[in-house]
Amino acid sequence: MRTLKTKPAQGLHGELTVPGDKSISHRGIMLGAISEGTTTLTHFLTSADCLSTLAAFQQLGVPIERDGTTVTVHGVGLHGLKPSSEPLDMGNSGTTTRLIMGLLAGQSFKTTLVGDDSLSTRPMRRVSEPLATMGAKMTTTDGHLPVTVTGQKLHAVHYQLKVASAQVKSALILAALQADDPTTLIEKLPTRDHTERMLTAFGGDIQTAADGVTITVAPQPHLTGQSMTVPGDMSSAAFFMTAASLVPGSKITLKDVGLNKTRTGLLEILKTMGGNVSIKSEPTTGEPLGDLTIQSADLKPINIGKDQIPAVIDELPLVALLAAKANGISRITGAEELRVKETDRISAIVTEFKKLGIAIEELPDGFVIDGRQPWHVVDPVLDAHDDHRIGMVLGIAALLVETPLQLKGADSVRISYPEFFDDLDQLL
Ligand code: S3P
Repeated sequence: MRTLKTKPAQGLHGELTVPGDKSISHRGIMLGAISEGTTTLTHFLTSADCLSTLAAFQQLGVPIERDGTTVTVHGVGLHGLKPSSEPLDMGNSGTTTRLIMGLLAGQSFKTTLVGDDSLSTRPMRRVSEPLATMGAKMTTTDGHLPVTVTGQKLHAVHYQLKVASAQVKSALILAALQADDPTTLIEKLPTRDHTERMLTAFGGDIQTAADGVTITVAPQPHLTGQSMTVPGDMSSAAFFMTAASLVPGSKITLKDVGLNKTRTGLLEILKTMGGNVSIKSEPTTGEPLGDLTIQSADLKPINIGKDQIPAVIDELPLVALLAAKANGISRITGAEELRVKETDRISAIVTEFKKLGIAIEELPDGFVIDGRQPWHVVDPVLDAHDDHRIGMVLGIAALLVETPLQLKGADSVRISYPEFFDDLDQLL
């Protein structure tokens, strides 16, 4: 049980560089592993999820060294992975699991994937079914982990994705690299495009059409290792952006944050709500990057629907928190994917926010929140529901009350941001 810091009298102040992006760190290891030559990742995220990816590829015979946040991957090429005698442990990481399913589908050996209790309840047919259309052979446990993948020769497909999911898209891209002809994927809505950008940098042939949702991937056995600095994770920066917006008297600067448009939904939402954010972007050749300065502001309510969800999917708990202090009623809909994250995030947010006396109503696919209702602590013992992002949003919510609060499962932050509470302290 952790005692959370309550309302800081002077607000949040100072400058912070958040840890590296989780999605990019995972993909850096994976693409580095199947490339020829060395890949160096600087500012790699050393959280439990990314370390699950690192360990899985070591188990598949890829030499990988880590010195703090610098990781060196000695690529073995697309056909150089080796079978593992033990199952690969995916830990809590959905990204590791789904992407590796796509990659292993085209290999010449069999692999079993296992995960923790939370990951073992998450849906895997969204990946196994489209992969099966390419000829992949895999068995799930009633649609969940454990999954056994028996590598096969894959064939190209023209496939329309059934969920707006970058994990599913990326699994299919990694499979398509090993297919006999170019594959076309059509997304429901544009989702984070790190795989596409990074694959291009590693020498792959992947194009996204002008419609933003039609992706063509050519088979490509020869990728080349790269050196890259991982940008700060927008999904981690988002906690402090929210805190500084809501706690009166705050002014903070977050350095070198990834500003890829498929990830900046919270930034746009905050601006629409009347947030005080200034962006100093830096010229880069790879992923867009910049410094964000955030000051506290009075916020207006917002309505968010399905089209806006992918760019803010991991930040929706924070949108709910912003809405809980806005001067009106906000509606967030089209977010049913939140129900299949590390926990059911709709239910977790509603349960925990009600403990703070927030006027929140649960919808099947989102929430309605009346920010005009004053908060009052009904139950001071909050619960992270074993979900890193729920733990962190509650850590931020505590800054808006004066009553001391306790958090069960605060350790869940290790999944994406082990230093979260220390970094927060730095700004208080
Ligand atoms: C991720 C994609 C998203 C996101 C997750 C990371 C990725 O999941 O929620 O934290 O790295 O591709 P979905 O693809 O399931 O939406």
